[in-house]
Amino acid sequence: MSLKGKDILSAFDFEREDLERLFKLADQLREEMAEKGSLDYAKGKVMLTAFFEPSTRTKLSFQFAMVKLGGTVIDFDVSTSSLLKGESDVDTMKIIDGYDPDVIVIRQKQPYFPHKVKDFVKAPILNAGDGPHEHPTQALLDVYTIWRELGKVDGIKIGIMGDLKYGRTAPSLSYMLTRFNNLTIYYIAPDVIQIRDEVIENIKGKVKFEKVSKPDEVIEELDVLYVTRLQKERFSDPEEYERLKGAYKIDKDFLSKFKHIPIIMHPLPRVWELDPSVDELPQAKYFEQARNGLFARAALVKEVLGV
Ligand code: NCD
Repeated sequence: MSLKGKDILSAFDFEREDLERLFKLADQLREEMAEKGSLDYAKGKVMLTAFFEPSTRTKLSFQFAMVKLGGTVIDFDVSTSSLLKGESDVDTMKIIDGYDPDVIVIRQKQPYFPHKVKDFVKAPILNAGDGPHEHPTQALLDVYTIWRELGKVDGIKIGIMGDLKYGRTAPSLSYMLTRFNNLTIYYIAPDVIQIRDEVIENIKGKVKFEKVSKPDEVIEELDVLYVTRLQKERFSDPEEYERLKGAYKIDKDFLSKFKHIPIIMHPLPRVWELDPSVDELPQAKYFEQARNGLFARAALVKEVLGV
């Protein structure tokens, strides 16, 4: 079954067979783009990107993906829009819908915002991050990266480290990993920013997991260490942020203490938690991971458009 015309709001919207098909399609598009540059699958189709929160990779990789597929992108620029005159974001989406885009990519601060607008918007909606809630297409490129690097996803051990409370990549990655077998997830974080109960409820019985407070406890067992940034913009108490700043940090010296170093991933942007000294290690995969976003998102957009 294809995802033609479907909204992608959660990582649970992908079944295992969808993921396997999309990963192969992403590899195919990578080759076709290397050979021909731009393709013409999406000729005549229009993508609207509406990012109400900052973004570099997610927005650019969706836009590049659409253009390289032969389509057109219109970007809604929040900073010069009528939102500044007091128009609501729901009204804004109604106006956008009236211009008949073929696919809409939304990032919003409010959890469930894409769920709220999907019923009156005709085009399929791709959730590019709804506050701390979910970021399903990030999970798509994360798991695609694991699949390419390790040749499999079943049976792996992954440590997800950092701000698991306010981050949206950890929940979506966890949900997508439940589609595979015999995996173990270690949530590595100080107690105050450990994974949210709601996430545990959603994965319970579907994947093995354990909470640990320090990477040292598990690093030698891991196939993948997935590091995330402290989500400064979501802390209501700036003092709590300052207290936690520097609470976990991965650098080359730290990693060199271990006999086995897992592959290192990060959704980026990084701040202090992943030192640039790690970049020279062969296990550093985060820039490759960001580039994989182009192909993973191109595969998804192609399918959702049905082209
Ligand atoms: C992430 C996000 O926006 O949630 N960034 C991204 O999409 N690559 C991670 C983050 O901002 O820390």
